[in-house]
Amino acid sequence: MPLFLFPFFMSHPIYTLYLLKKMIHPKANFSLKSRNTFGIDAKCQLFFESDSIDELKEAITRFRHIPLLILGGGSNTLFTKNFEGLVVSPALKTIEILHEDDLWATICVAAGVEWDELVNMAVGKGWGGLENLSLIPGNVGASPIQNIGAYGVEAKDSIEEVKGFYIDSLQDFTLSNAQCHFGYRDSIFKRDLKGKVLITHVVFKLSKVHKLITNYGSIAEELEKIGQQSISAVRRAVISIREAKLPNPKEIGNAGSFFKNPVVSSEIFNEIKNHFPQVPSYPADNASVKLPAGWLIETCGWKGKRVGNVGVHAKQALVLVNFGGSKGSEIMELAQKIQQSVKTEFGIELEMEVNLV
Ligand code: FAD
Ligand code: EPU
Repeated sequence: MPLFLFPFFMSHPIYTLYLLKKMIHPKANFSLKSRNTFGIDAKCQLFFESDSIDELKEAITRFRHIPLLILGGGSNTLFTKNFEGLVVSPALKTIEILHEDDLWATICVAAGVEWDELVNMAVGKGWGGLENLSLIPGNVGASPIQNIGAYGVEAKDSIEEVKGFYIDSLQDFTLSNAQCHFGYRDSIFKRDLKGKVLITHVVFKLSKVHKLITNYGSIAEELEKIGQQSISAVRRAVISIREAKLPNPKEIGNAGSFFKNPVVSSEIFNEIKNHFPQVPSYPADNASVKLPAGWLIETCGWKGKRVGNVGVHAKQALVLVNFGGSKGSEIMELAQKIQQSVKTEFGIELEMEVNLV
């Protein structure tokens, strides 16, 4: 192009596209081993990570002809084979205060922020609501997907809005808490919008007047030991309980609970209780009962069992582990055997919590 035309070209939208095309450099034949907490050495055809929404959109547009997977911290994902497609990882890392007064802080947090960094920051600033969700691995962008939960609290209790764009049209969206249809390990993003959106930001409303939730498991006991009643003490209590029973993915590959806790009718529960009077349970909606899948799996004799390179964690039967070098398909085979035993022993179908790829 003659040089004198260059200033005109630079102000043309085609120039923006040209620049974007130049910027997108996905990595080919990329190993996802360090990108999933099971530590499975699966490869993807292309991998693209960016902290720019325009670049994420450009990559999605450019590679529409191949399958797409959005990946956060990979802590709830099991790769059973190589992924023949584009993996996109949103690495946006901003935290913006939208509103703050004496009672509340409303913050907009980008998808690529590590979940526990957010919890740590919130507790440090005296903003309550997330402390029971301490030490959950993964990124903020995935938190609304399965409505992460622990120790009597769920992400939905603090989420005000979820923002992102539709994969097909690249149109931006904002969904209110009610529009996300949150449930136990469930949301619209696991149903109608499954695979259809990329979440870029989550807006949280956090409270400066703290309401401590301490009635789950041994939190109250841990708080007694710590000798304080505060959101930072709750964070410490939760971390200490979690470190005692859950394997650290940096040391041993896992994705937390492999299955959801099943919800059964009171008739089925009473039948189980007749045979196993000690069965633990929690009340659920519509007079049904939630059973701990960990108990069902332990009662079937799986706790601490090892099969080749994979196994069932010795301190938490709901957690399947990769002792090293295992393939995703081996973990899946073990999971299917466990599902079969629980079905045979109790007539209950365990539903997977982990996302299969
Ligand atoms: P990924 O595994 O990367 O993705 C999960 C799913 O969300 C995939 O389907 C992916 O496609 C989709 N996704 C991710 N990011 C986006 C995005 N920005 N836009 C659109 N789709 C997206 N979970 C709990 O609820 N409670 C717990 O107590 C808990 N404890 C755990 C303990 C351990 C040791 C481990 C390893 C996991 C635990 N988990 C727990 C599961 C996991 O940490 C959460 O599900 C977490 O939210 C997953 O985040 P991630 O970024 O790693 O998601
Ligand atoms: N239990 C056993 N044996 C086991 C494990 C559990 O009998 O090996 C029974 C015990 O009665 C125990 C009860 O199950 O009291 C509950 O156990 P725990 O408190 O460890 O919780 P969970 O139901 O196994 C759920 C979540 C976890 C979350 C904890 C704490 C699901 C699927 N899992 O586990 O979330 O951290 O509660 O709130 O709801 C995850 O989703 O990845 C995850 C780790």
